[in-house]
Formats: sequence, structure tokens, C-alpha cells
Amino acid sequence: MKYRIRIEPAGVEIECDAGQSLLDAALAQGYFPHHSCRRGECGACRVQLLSGEVGYAPGRRPDGAAALAADECLSCQAVPRSDVAIRAPEVLAEPGRRVVQASARVLEVERVCHDVAVVRLQLPASAGFQFKAGQYADVILRDGSRRSYSMANPPNADGLIEWHVRAMPGGRFSPHVYERLKPRDLLRVEGPFGAFGLAESEAPVVLLASGTGFAPIAAMLRSQADALARRGAVLYWGGRRLEDLYAREEAEHWAQRHPGCRFVPVLSDPAPGWHGRTGFVHEAVVADIPDLAGHEVYACGNPLMVDAARTVYCQDHGLPPARFHSDAFVTRCEPREAAQAA
Ligand SMILES: Cc1cc2nc3c(=O)[nH]c(=O)nc-3n(C[C@H](O)[C@H](O)[C@H](O)COP(=O)(O)OP(=O)(O)OC[C@H]3O[C@@H](n4cnc5c(N)ncnc54)[C@H](O)[C@@H]3O)c2cc1C
Ligand code: FES
Repeated sequence: MKYRIRIEPAGVEIECDAGQSLLDAALAQGYFPHHSCRRGECGACRVQLLSGEVGYAPGRRPDGAAALAADECLSCQAVPRSDVAIRAPEVLAEPGRRVVQASARVLEVERVCHDVAVVRLQLPASAGFQFKAGQYADVILRDGSRRSYSMANPPNADGLIEWHVRAMPGGRFSPHVYERLKPRDLLRVEGPFGAFGLAESEAPVVLLASGTGFAPIAAMLRSQADALARRGAVLYWGGRRLEDLYAREEAEHWAQRHPGCRFVPVLSDPAPGWHGRTGFVHEAVVADIPDLAGHEVYACGNPLMVDAARTVYCQDHGLPPARFHSDAFVTRCEPREAAQAA
């Protein structure tokens, strides 16, 4: 049995099998509602139910990390009981690239600083994996759980992927990547996902990254440098110490090679002798550009930083909310609500 799911305000209509989650149906058909863990834990996929009825299959978790309002559901867990309409403003009217699942071979693991590994993977070219700068892919672990990583390399037709993985202390997958992953290992990968990427516009661009939030930005710098230079772009990249900005030479070269582009490293806990910018990276942006009304912002990395930037820029510095584009690296124990409460 199949039901119809309508996603507003884009007005998209998709089909969903009776036992399939709303999120799985949307992703399979190239639409990308917000989500992260896909197992009912983070709350990132919470959507408003406008009409119709949903239920939860046995073993599915009904309310995730966050308490749900009466008209909300977790799209990664909810299955349709009738035709339904949901509200997910981030979903675009046009479907994105086809999602594929394939085995990827590790080509190289480069430990670029004390906690970040740059991982290069090869998918079979026959898998037809194609992505846009800013998108991410999931690695599927043995128990079926997933972790997401943004592609840092330019889009290509050869099945090549570069990920920047930060080893999270106590994490299940990322410390394994940093400590033990090696060339010729195989990973199950699915993607591409995500609607983050440079929008059609001529507005000057602010690129804002914390830590490995640099990865999707790197894909833009590497593949859309001319568009960024034409519009004017400034990259603010934050870390605790200089060594956390593991690709700062690349960022510096990008800024030097492209008139109209600047790179501003911002350190929150610098070693003695640092004479550059200090403090929270999102605050450095508005110290330099107090009026963001004519800009577009692309923010990636720590969900706390991304949420703080969105609130401050849109409420106090004139940025239209539609011009704030973000990719928050929500982790299992770092749901958006917990981050906001903190
Ligand atoms: C769209 C998207 C893109 C992303 N892109 C990137 C990227 O490019 N690079 C990147 O490095 N990351 C990225 N992430 C984050 C990434 O997907 C993983 O969440 C991250 O690597 C942690 O995975 P893990 O298995 O190591 O940690 P997990 O095992 O999932 O744990 C996450 C955190 O919770 C803590 N924790 C785990 N279990 C417990 C427990 N029982 N009690 C208390 N605390 C616990 C861990 O210490 C850790 O801090 C992205 C996330 C999203 C949603
Ligand atoms: S993606 Fe649904 S709860 Fe995390």
C-alpha cells in the first residue's frame, strides 16, 4: 500500500510505502528535509504535520531527544497511516541528485592535525555517485546506524570523495577513523544528501566555519572560486588554536589568488604570540560587517555556533533569514535542543 506525502511550502508530492518513514521516502526521491541521526535520537528531523495521520512502527522511537508538540512528528520514525501533508521549509521544489549506496575503498588517511583526519575514498565509477559542492554522504555502520560527512573535494564523475573527520572523544566511529582506518579498508557509503550549497545570487558572501565545518566550504572554494571572487567573499574559520585550522594554508592561498576574497582565522584559545583575531568566530563576522542586509551567509560546523549565528545575524544585523544557509554537524548526543538550552 502506498500513501501520498505533500511537503509544504514547496508543494512537492511524493509516494511513501505503508511501512516506510516519511524521511526515507523523501530522501529516496531526491528531497532533503532536515535530519541527522535517522534513528530517532537527535530531534533534527522534527516536522509539523499539517494534515493526515502518522504512526510509529514497532521498535521505532516516537519522540527522540526532544519533546514533540501535538502536531509534530519525527520524520525519520513516522510512517503514514493516510495521505499526509507536512511542513518542511528547507525542502526545495526540484529534486536533488539520485541517492546511491555503494562500497567505498579507502585510498588514503592523512592525519592533518591532532584530531582531524582527511580521508580519501573511491566509489566504483559505475555507482554513478555525483554530488554538488556542500553536500554530504553517510557511512553506514555494522548495526545500520549512520554518520554523516561533508564532501570537501570538487564534484567529479570518478567516484572520488574527500572527508574531513574530527575524532570526537568517546565517539563510536570518528576515533576509529583517526586511529585505525587505513588504505584498502572498505566503508558502506550512501549519498549524496543535503541542500547546502552556493545559491544563485550576486550578493557578497560570508563563509563561516568551525572546525571540520571547513569541509563543505573547501568544496566551494575548490570548485566555485570564480563565482565567489566575482561576488566578493570572506571566510571566517574558527578553532581553539591555530593548529585546529588544519587547512589554513589552502585558505590563505585561496584568498591571495582571488582579489575580492579574504580569509580571517579566529582563535578562541590562542597560544601566546598570536596577534590575529580571537573570540567566537561568529562574533568576528558582525564586528567587521555590522550590517548584513545585503549579504548571504553560509555557516557550517558546530550546531551551537550555527544556531547562535542565525539568531544574532537575523535578529540584530539585518540578515534576511532566507539568506542564512547552514549545515549543522548535529551529533548523537548533541541534539539541537540541548545545544540551544546550553
Ligand atoms: C549533515 C552533517 C554533516 C556532517 N559533516 C561532518 C564532517 O564533515 N566532519 C565531521 O567531523 N563531522 C561531521 N558531522 C558529524 C558526524 O556525522 C558524527 O556525528 C561525528 O563524527 C561523531 O560520530 P561518532 O560516531 O564518532 O560519535 P558518536 O558515537 O555518535 O557520539 C557523538 C558524541 O556523543 C558523545 N557520546 C557518545 N555516546 C555517549 C553516551 N552514552 N553518553 C554521553 N555522551 C556520549 C561522544 O563522546 C561524542 O562526543 C556531520 C553531521 C551532520 C549531521
Ligand atoms: S534524524 Fe530523526 S531524530 Fe535524528
